[in-house]
Amino acid sequence: MDLVCKILSWLVSLVVILSCTCSSVSATVTYDDKAIIINGQRRILISGSIHYPRSTPEMWPDLIQKAKDGGLDVIQTYVFWNGHEPTQGKFNFEGRYDLVRFIKTVQEAGLYVHLRIGPYVCAEWNFGGFPAWLKFIPGISFRTDNDPFKAEMQRFTEMIVNMMKSNKLFEPQGGPIIMSQIENEYGPVEWEIGAPGKAYTKWFSSMAVGLKTGVPWIMCKQDDVPDPIIDTCNGFYCEGFFPKKSYKPKMWTEVWTSWLTEFGGAVPYRPVEDLAFAVLRFVQNKGSFFNYYMYHGGTNFGRESSGLFVATSYDYDAPLDEYGLPREPKYGHLKLMHSAIKQSEAALVSADPKVWSLGKNSEAHEYRAKTGACAAFLANYDTESSAKVTYFNRQYDLPPWSISILPDCKNEVFNSAKVHSNSVHLNMVPVKAAFDWQSSTEEVPIADDDDTFTKWGLYEQLNLTKDFSDYLWYLIDVNISANEAFLKNGDDPILTVTSAGDALQVFINGQSSGVAYGSLKNTKLTFNDTVKLKAGINKISLLSSSVGLANVGVHFETYNIGVLGPVTLNGLSEGTRDLTKQKWSYKVGLKGQASSLHTLGESSSAQWLQGSLVAQKQPLSWYKSTFDAPEGSDPLALDMSSMGKGQIWINGESVGRHWPGYIARGSGCGNCNYAGTYDETKCLSNCGEPSQKWYHVPRSLLKPTGNQVVIFEEWGGNPSGISLVKRTEQN
Ligand SMILES: *[C@@H]1O[C@H](CO)[C@@H](O)[C@H](O)[C@H]1NC(C)=O
Ligand SMILES: *[C@@H]1O[C@H](CO)[C@@H](O)[C@H](O)[C@H]1NC(C)=O
Ligand SMILES: *[C@@H]1O[C@H](CO)[C@@H](O)[C@H](O)[C@H]1NC(C)=O
Repeated sequence: MDLVCKILSWLVSLVVILSCTCSSVSATVTYDDKAIIINGQRRILISGSIHYPRSTPEMWPDLIQKAKDGGLDVIQTYVFWNGHEPTQGKFNFEGRYDLVRFIKTVQEAGLYVHLRIGPYVCAEWNFGGFPAWLKFIPGISFRTDNDPFKAEMQRFTEMIVNMMKSNKLFEPQGGPIIMSQIENEYGPVEWEIGAPGKAYTKWFSSMAVGLKTGVPWIMCKQDDVPDPIIDTCNGFYCEGFFPKKSYKPKMWTEVWTSWLTEFGGAVPYRPVEDLAFAVLRFVQNKGSFFNYYMYHGGTNFGRESSGLFVATSYDYDAPLDEYGLPREPKYGHLKLMHSAIKQSEAALVSADPKVWSLGKNSEAHEYRAKTGACAAFLANYDTESSAKVTYFNRQYDLPPWSISILPDCKNEVFNSAKVHSNSVHLNMVPVKAAFDWQSSTEEVPIADDDDTFTKWGLYEQLNLTKDFSDYLWYLIDVNISANEAFLKNGDDPILTVTSAGDALQVFINGQSSGVAYGSLKNTKLTFNDTVKLKAGINKISLLSSSVGLANVGVHFETYNIGVLGPVTLNGLSEGTRDLTKQKWSYKVGLKGQASSLHTLGESSSAQWLQGSLVAQKQPLSWYKSTFDAPEGSDPLALDMSSMGKGQIWINGESVGRHWPGYIARGSGCGNCNYAGTYDETKCLSNCGEPSQKWYHVPRSLLKPTGNQVVIFEEWGGNPSGISLVKRTEQN
């Protein structure tokens, strides 16, 4: 902001303050067809998503400052209901869930907030943000015209709005929140369920508007939004989108900076040339608000990621990487673009564009305001050829698939495909190669253990765990006659287990007999393999594990996980023995967790083995060690490549599920040309390697010395291969 602007905006605020004193209700955030209007001024707003629980409060000020330095005006976040109300009526607004502190941190940096309350948020987040207990309210049905659901949604939404009001966080109160969002991408669901969906839309829209926040509400990916709510676009490109009513501004709530990483998938990235091109196509075509989803993706700590097999890293190839460091050249290139857009702001908010062709596949968009301000965008849509175009007697070179900005209708200050920012290469450098591990074995439970309960038949997993644990044991005894032929001829029977997801490990008489697991595309899985049985009673123990609950789909609350059967033994003298409807025993969770092996302090019942006795390649092993915080402030991670699947705790706090044993599909990684329409399958890395091998260890969890790391490993791995690494510039 130069001095003249400063004085101008100070004058505008003064006028607003004066007019506020004479009229009691005075919304200071409104909109028209051109833009969001703040204190009387139309604004081109550049926004970025940073989800507060996906980093730590200690990281927030730096992330937000880097967002500001990168040219952002607004930070956008969802509100995560299941984090705030893990048990009905018991609230958590502390640590990573200190929502008010997060918003005040944004305010202190001088940025605005777009608060997407939802409370359905999707977000690759466990259960789409809904607490698991919500499913068990009698008569409930999610996201439709259902009274128990609406009552809970309203209660939570009101609570958040009131919390914002009492902390004076809405803009008319002097706070940073300039916009809110109700529901999320509801259009496709409404379209599918019809009348009850329409009734629900009507209800939640008027419920939200009735909360009188003093700032506009938006709804994304939904056409039929009632006034005064603004309909907005989400996607890789949104230039063709317009709100249904001509008096609303054109807004893009999610500019996808790339895509999520799934366990089992390669890692997607999006070239910055294409990302910048997409944004400029939107802006040249009357777009006045855009939000990078994500600007900082961060980490799915604990058990917070969703059942789409979403990895613990939520990096999203965002301008700030998972660890909060600028990703170059993406960060720097976008920063230059933001500055060029800001130089064009006066023209963009005052005029309608004039569009004409500059030749084959090239176009000019010109905003010439009565005030004299003029900004032009010169576009070349060709995916292969660059273009030499003439605009007002000057020549401009446009690389393929690119747009230039001329903030004064003369000088090109930015082209989306001419990347001049430095390409800083960050690497993972080992700082501690060998941990001194101790190990403890998680015993395989059996049907007649004291802490099990029995039921006839197979039960759905979430019904029994209520999501207090990823793990449910299905236990059964199988009596094998001494006369069975296979006992002599060695032609072992086949155990077939069909599960609705997400992963399964089979134990026969305490010995691991293999694993099976689903994928993002199909969570269902079948274990189908020979098993070693003996004459007499055999103990079959099936460990079913969840990697989070579904977050998307019509009535995803009805999706099942766990061993629903059939479960059969084939190749016995009787033919097939169907175990599906027999009496099963169940055990929720792990013994090690019940006896607090993962927490700080001594667990009385635990036996930790040391030195040469430490478990190697043993399934169901707990590992524990201590380490000192490395010098400096470089972000830290654990390299878990030598391990299989499980969960990691640092000083008692879960930093997420690890699953380096899930290897990314082998094809699709190769050279990726930025030019041409992008989708999440276009540009991939990590093929044939673990989808995720590094797991973020936030500095703020660490003391200078004696930090405890605990790992639960399901499959069996080699703990001596684990190392602590720091993320730093490669020399
Ligand atoms: C979950 O439990 C409820 C009540 O306990 C039962 O009605 C329902 O059928 C169960 N669902 C599954 C899939 O087992
Ligand atoms: C197992 O089956 C045999 C007959 O095949 C029977 O004699 C024995 O009692 C059974 N054992 C149990 C524990 O049911
Ligand atoms: C299990 O494997 C056997 C052969 O090993 C095959 O005949 C059978 O169809 C398989 N069953 C399933 C459910 O995949």
